[in-house]
Amino acid sequence: MTTTPNAWRIDAPGQTLVLASSGRIPVAVYWGPSLPLEQDLDAVVSAAKRDVTGGMIDALPELSLCPEEGDSYQGQPGIKAYRAGRVLFPRFALVSAEGGTFVCRDEDLGLTVTFRFAVEGSVIAASTSLVSEQTITLHHLAAPAMPGPQFAEEILDFSGRWIGEFQMERALWRSGVHMREARGGRSGHETPPIAYFPETGATNTRGTVFAMHYGWSGGHVMYAEEQPDGRRLVQFGHATGTRAAGTEFETGKVYLAVSEVGLNGCAVAFQRHLRDELVTWPHPERSRPVHYNCWEAIYFDHDFEALTAIADRAVELGAERFVLDDGWFGKRDDDTSSLGDWEIDPRKWPDGLTPLIDHVKSLGMVFGLWFEPEMVNLDSDLARAHPEWILGRADQVEGRQQRVLDVGNPEVRDYLYEKIAAVLATHDIDYIKWDHNRLLPVADAAQGDGIYALLAQLREDFPQVEIESCASGGGRIDAGILQHTQRVWLSDSNDALERLRIQHDAALFLPAAITGSHVGPRHCHTSGRVHDIRFRAWVAAQRHMGFEMDPRELTEEEAGVLSRVTAWWKSNRDWRMQADILRLDSADPSVIAEMQLAADGAQFVVFAGKAASGVQNMPRPLRLTGLDPDALYEVALINRDEANHLSRTSMPLKEGPMVLSGQQLMQQGLILPWSFPDRMWVVEGTKK
Ligand code: DGJ
Repeated sequence: MTTTPNAWRIDAPGQTLVLASSGRIPVAVYWGPSLPLEQDLDAVVSAAKRDVTGGMIDALPELSLCPEEGDSYQGQPGIKAYRAGRVLFPRFALVSAEGGTFVCRDEDLGLTVTFRFAVEGSVIAASTSLVSEQTITLHHLAAPAMPGPQFAEEILDFSGRWIGEFQMERALWRSGVHMREARGGRSGHETPPIAYFPETGATNTRGTVFAMHYGWSGGHVMYAEEQPDGRRLVQFGHATGTRAAGTEFETGKVYLAVSEVGLNGCAVAFQRHLRDELVTWPHPERSRPVHYNCWEAIYFDHDFEALTAIADRAVELGAERFVLDDGWFGKRDDDTSSLGDWEIDPRKWPDGLTPLIDHVKSLGMVFGLWFEPEMVNLDSDLARAHPEWILGRADQVEGRQQRVLDVGNPEVRDYLYEKIAAVLATHDIDYIKWDHNRLLPVADAAQGDGIYALLAQLREDFPQVEIESCASGGGRIDAGILQHTQRVWLSDSNDALERLRIQHDAALFLPAAITGSHVGPRHCHTSGRVHDIRFRAWVAAQRHMGFEMDPRELTEEEAGVLSRVTAWWKSNRDWRMQADILRLDSADPSVIAEMQLAADGAQFVVFAGKAASGVQNMPRPLRLTGLDPDALYEVALINRDEANHLSRTSMPLKEGPMVLSGQQLMQQGLILPWSFPDRMWVVEGTKK
C-alpha cells in the first residue's frame, strides 16, 4: 500500500484501488485498471470531486466504504444497528490507517468500525468488523462498499435452481436499488453471491469489467444502488437480520477484480484466486484423481457384490477415486430416515466398510464417503434423543423429509465431530462428499459460523482428507465454504447439455480443478434425455472429471470412447487443472465455447459445444482469445473421427493439424465442421 497523508492506494495485478478520507470513513475515489505508480494521489482525490446544484444539500454525502445514515444520505446505509430499541446513527472519525487497515471510531456511541484490505494473488480482499461497547442488534453491516461503474448500463449476476445452477441475469442500472438476497441460510442455488459490472459493450473477451463476490455461505445481501445524483455504489453483507445481538461483528470478505479484457479478466482472477490462494489442497503434489461416484448407479441399494463389480469396471475405464454415496449408515433405505445416525448400517455392511475400501484400494483407487452432517431426519435415533438440537419450529415444513441441526450449538458440533472423526480415524478415507439438502427454516448466521468451525476442526485433525461441498448440487458454492473444502458438486444435473451451460457460466467464478463434472447414465435421470457417450464424456472432461452411472450399462463401444476420453483427460490434466478458462464470444448462439489456456501460454484446448441445431446452415467462425498474435500455433481437431456423414466437405481441420498465427485465430477465427447438436468439438493448440 502506498500513501499520501489522506489517500492510500492498493494495487493488485490489473487493478488499483485509491481510498481517501476527509477525516471520516474512507471513500473509494478510484477503483479501476492499474494506475501508473507515479500518479499523484492528491490529484486522484481532487479529480473525483463533484459539483452540487439546486434541490440538493450543499455538499454531497460521501459514498464511503460504509455509508452512514444522516447528512441527508438517501441510499442504503452500510450499518443498520439498534440499541435499546433506538436506531443508531453513527458518525465515525478515522483514527488510524496503517498497512491496509483503517480504524474509525464513534466516541459518542462507543462504536469502532475497522476495514481491512489485503491483496490475495489477483484479487483485493476486503472485510469490515464492528465492535460496540454495549450490546447492539445489527441488521446490516457492509463489507467495504465499492463504486459501481458509470460507463455501464447493466448489472450481471446469477440466479439458479436445482439442476439449473448459475443462470446469468442481466438487470439495468437505474435510479434506486438492485437488491439480491439469499435468505435460505445458504449461499444458495437461487442467488450465488457473485456479481459482474461490465461497462457498456463489454463481452467475454473485450471491454472493461468489474466484479465482486462475497465469501460467506450462510446467505448474503447485495445492494447495487444508483443514487439520485447518479453515483453508484455496491455493497455486500450477510443476509439482513441474521445475527444475534452482540458486541462484535465481522463481515465475510468481499473479493474485487477488474478487467480490461472483458468478463474473462475477472473470471480468471477469481479462478486463480480460488485455486492458488484460497483452497488448501490436501495433496498438492498429486494430480486430481478421476472420480467414480455410485449415486446414480445404485442410490440407497448398497450391495457388496454389486459395488465391487462396479468398482472393477470403473477402474478399467480410468477411475482413481471411488465414492460411496448416501445410504451406508443408520437404516437409510430411502431419504425418509437416519440422517444424524452416522454409524455404519450392519444390515448392508455386516463386516463394515473395510472390505469395500480394501477392494477399492486393491484396484489402485482411493476411497471417498458421503455425509450430510448438518441434517437430521425425525426418524433417527439422534432426533429421538435430542429434539432440542433441531433448528426451527416443531411444526415446520420439512425439506426432503429432513430438518436442520443447530450447528451454532457447540454440543451439536461436538457430536458431529465425534461421529465423523470416528469413521475417518478407523477407515482409509481420502475424501468426503459433504452434502446439505435443504434450506434452513430460518436464516441464521450462527449456523454458518458453526459449520465453518466444524469443518476447520476436521480439516485440522484430518488434513489428508479432501472435502467436496455439495448442497443438492450447487446450493453452497462460495469463497467461504471453499476455505474449508476443495471441490464443489456444481449440479445434480448429469445431463451433458445442461451441464455444458452450467459449467460455462460457473467459470465466471470457478476453475476446472475445483469443479466436479461426471459422465452420467445414458438415460439422464434428471432430464430424461439420452445423450451420446462422446458428448457426455467431453463435457465431463472440461472440468474435474468423474463417472456417475452404472458402468455395467456401457456397451463396448461406449466403454471404448469413455476410456479414450478419460486417458486424454489424464494425459492433459496437469496443465489443464492449472489453466485459465476463457469463455469465447460465440457468434453462433447455438455454440457454447471456451478455451483453456496453459499458465505459460504454450498450449490450449478449445471446447466448442453445440447446444442446439442453430439457425444458419454452416457453423460461424469461432474467435479464440488470449493468444500471442505474432506466434504460430499448431491446431488439431482431436475428435475429428466424430465428424458426421452430413459434414460433407473435406476441410483441412478434418484431415489433420494446421499451423495458424495467433492473429488469424483471434481475428478470423477457427472454422469448424458442421455437426449434430449435442456434440462437442475439441481442438488442441500448441505454440510453435
Ligand atoms: C444430493 C446430492 O447432490 C446427490 O449427488 C447425492 O449425493 C444425494 N444428495 C444423496 O442423497
